[in-house]
Amino acid sequence: MSTNNKKLFLETYGCQMNVADSEVVASIMEHDGFAITKTREEADLILVNTCSIRENAETRVRGRVQGFSELKKKNPKLLVGVIGCMAERLGEKLFEEEKNVNLVVGPDAYMDLPLLVRKAENGENAINIELSLTETYKDICPSRIDETSISGFVSIMRGCNNFCTYCIVPYTRGRERSRNPESILKEVKDLADKGYKEVTLLGQNVNSFSYKNSVNQVSFPELLEMVAVSVPNMRIRFATSHPKDMSDDTLHVIARNKNICNFIHLPVQSGSDSVLKNMRRKYTQEWYKSKIEAIRKIIPDCGLSSDIFCGFYNESDEDFNETIELMKWAKYDLAYMFKYSERPGTYAYKNMKDNIPETVKQKRLEQMIELQNQISLENNQGDLGKVFEVLVEGISKKSDQEVYGRTQQNKVAVFPKKDYKVGDFVNVLIKSCTKATLIGEAV
Ligand code: 5AD
Ligand code: SF4
Repeated sequence: MSTNNKKLFLETYGCQMNVADSEVVASIMEHDGFAITKTREEADLILVNTCSIRENAETRVRGRVQGFSELKKKNPKLLVGVIGCMAERLGEKLFEEEKNVNLVVGPDAYMDLPLLVRKAENGENAINIELSLTETYKDICPSRIDETSISGFVSIMRGCNNFCTYCIVPYTRGRERSRNPESILKEVKDLADKGYKEVTLLGQNVNSFSYKNSVNQVSFPELLEMVAVSVPNMRIRFATSHPKDMSDDTLHVIARNKNICNFIHLPVQSGSDSVLKNMRRKYTQEWYKSKIEAIRKIIPDCGLSSDIFCGFYNESDEDFNETIELMKWAKYDLAYMFKYSERPGTYAYKNMKDNIPETVKQKRLEQMIELQNQISLENNQGDLGKVFEVLVEGISKKSDQEVYGRTQQNKVAVFPKKDYKVGDFVNVLIKSCTKATLIGEAV
């Protein structure tokens, strides 16, 4: 690779997909001669990979971009690019609203980055926010920015066709498209060769993965099994699953392949049928419960997590109470909980007034968090006396005599370091716990 003596500082906000995309961007820019730097002060180009899912995600990025004024004063040649979902959603407006921005590049236009950087270097506002029906970056070998890591992401599909009424993703990431399984397998094997011990297959809705070529068609459970078999010594995870597309086939593949982690993230969003209908989630509470029952039956020791948000259009106290009851029933190990944030451009923005007062949203959110904390603690207490295989990820932040890692169920476990090192698989007997951590000893 030739170098142009320029340095790129890359900052990533939002979901795991953005982390994976930033590795694609790093690779594209390295091929263009840029070196990746971890110091903002020495950068010639700063790219901020952004998220639009809730308003506060965007507010944070704006604050960050405004903060680059100082750097630009010191280095007038410094270029700043906003890439990803905010670029797609706001487009040209970003140049007007954020004076530090020189480039605006959407999630499907990263191949165009080198050209856009040239334009920006010539003083133009450089923008490409075209969405694609086919782009999967299948031929880019992502640069693993964090080289000490043992856990990597591989994107298997892009975009989303579900159009849940509250969600901006189908607009910022475009239509669903699946990546060629061959290129996925190649990338997974490359991670294995580099010493990685875990891979997470990523997409907005992985269960609807479907790749057709002239000879055959590959579904998500088929792909999952192909990956598991191709790297038997690596742990496999995947995210995110839409409940409506979660098939028993997938559950059986998880159950019969030891290296696919017994863990499923199955966002419910709400426990109320009328709210689910307004959200256009295409399932009912009863149907969702039957999925959880299938998981518990087919994969008895499966970890479970969810996304839930309160305060969507017309959510009554009774509706919210159904969410609370569902949480009690599902007993998630972990839940990501939010308040509804209206996103301009969505169906809900146009047709469903954001009619729940902020104070009510806040109270409901606090109630969910308190309940989930209690459930997480009880679930962890249920693990006392059990032995779990833990993949060591690092030295504990609280003590350099301890290491931490995760169980297959995605729970964090801490235990005495002894001679264990990052990347080891260790059987750990759980002796105590908090709501967030299992504490044990190697056996
Ligand atoms: N407001 C609040 N939360 C949202 N999510 C998606 N859109 C919104 C919104 N407008 C949540 C959902 C989704 C997670 C990634 O973010 O729970 O699963
Ligand atoms: Fe958004 Fe729904 Fe697609 Fe998830 S499935 S990205 S919530 S539209």
